[in-house]
Amino acid sequence: MNILILGAGGREHAFSWKLAQSPKVSQLYIAPGNAGTSQHGINVPISPTDKAALAAFVKEKDIDMVVVGPEQPLVEGVADFLRTQGVPVIGPGKDGAELEGSKEFSKRFMDKYNIPTAAYAAFVSGQQAEAEAFIRRQALPVVVKASGLAAGKGVLICDSHIEAIEATRKMLSGESFGEAGQTVVIEQYLDGIEISVFVLTDGNSYKLLPSAKDYKRIGEGDTGLNTGGMGAVSPVPFADDDFMKTVRKTIVEPTLAGLQAENISYQGFIFIGLMVVDGTPIVLEYNVRMGDPETEVVLPRIESDLLDLFIGVAEGRLDEKSFSIDPRTCTTVMLVSGGYPGAYEKGKVISELEDTHEAILFHAGTKAVKNEVVTDGGRVMAVSCFGTSIEHAIHLSLTNASTIQFEGKYYRTDIGQDLMGG
Ligand code: AMP
Ligand code: GLY
Repeated sequence: MNILILGAGGREHAFSWKLAQSPKVSQLYIAPGNAGTSQHGINVPISPTDKAALAAFVKEKDIDMVVVGPEQPLVEGVADFLRTQGVPVIGPGKDGAELEGSKEFSKRFMDKYNIPTAAYAAFVSGQQAEAEAFIRRQALPVVVKASGLAAGKGVLICDSHIEAIEATRKMLSGESFGEAGQTVVIEQYLDGIEISVFVLTDGNSYKLLPSAKDYKRIGEGDTGLNTGGMGAVSPVPFADDDFMKTVRKTIVEPTLAGLQAENISYQGFIFIGLMVVDGTPIVLEYNVRMGDPETEVVLPRIESDLLDLFIGVAEGRLDEKSFSIDPRTCTTVMLVSGGYPGAYEKGKVISELEDTHEAILFHAGTKAVKNEVVTDGGRVMAVSCFGTSIEHAIHLSLTNASTIQFEGKYYRTDIGQDLMGG
């Protein structure tokens, strides 16, 4: 089969790497891809949101399936459009993508289907006074969220009512986050431990993929600014069989039943961000795609043929597919450009890649220039390693992270430390 993957990050390199192992794949294409994806297929310079160019490419290259990596094309209806062209797509249509594209929608959905989530209220422009009155009644801290897509930056945890009121004012007026902030969700703060769970579904049956924890802040000890993700660990030790059973019963299955009740036909991934409060999983958010860098630890642990699973999704026969998971731990450490998540320089030559051992290197922001690989983004490369324990895997990830060189390289050395010794 000819497969087209949309996206350009570490997640898409991991998809390419895993799909390239399938005997069912004839040719992989990645739009637009990076220097890593080109090891497994052909990069094509098409934007993942350029519907017309994608449709033409699908026809020209006889593409049998499209796998959508990021959320933006899904929210813009790229999956619906490609399906009308007759090509199966891994990724929900615009209606299903609302689970991520509108926090207000996802909160209403969870309330309607009794899926545990933080208490909230939503406000639109013109309702500043109502929002202020609501905020003043909330315990602190209080969480203010732009309802629309805000590249992971639309969530503010406010320690005072004044701060929350000001954040809300800026969002509702369009001053911050533009259109994404014109509806605001104000939410109860949950204190607990975060974990991500991943579901692959054909709309009826589902497979629960390995759990993972990511590390979002730039600094050691989870301090400083938020990033796209600085590292990840899978599995998460506390997510044992009993815990996952609770997640299935109270969250995953009601979510899939709710989608069916809403007549939303959903084929693709659901990434559920959970806060575990006193042992109880509560939903923070849905994403309609895989996580990055979680994919770089989740896919290596899937032993089954990923394309075979995708075929199951496309044909509505996922329940017939075998699914097995490598019991070992996989960790990843993200190498980032100096200055990230603020301003950083690109075009730094990356060297010593051939001196790494027992590592799977997933490129994120990289580009091939002549015979060299250079940095081309904030997050540059995920260094994924297997181990018999978190300690073992992370030791390998860190050793390899120190081997790879580029000017300004930075990475966190404490990924997984909070989960060790358990
Ligand atoms: P979200 O995009 O909704 O997942 O929010 C991004 C991050 O903000 C989450 O991963 C949490 O760390 C934090 N967060 C979101 N909602 C809450 C909440 N209700 N209580 C505490 N932290 C939250
Ligand atoms: N690592 C978090 C995300 O992909 O949204």
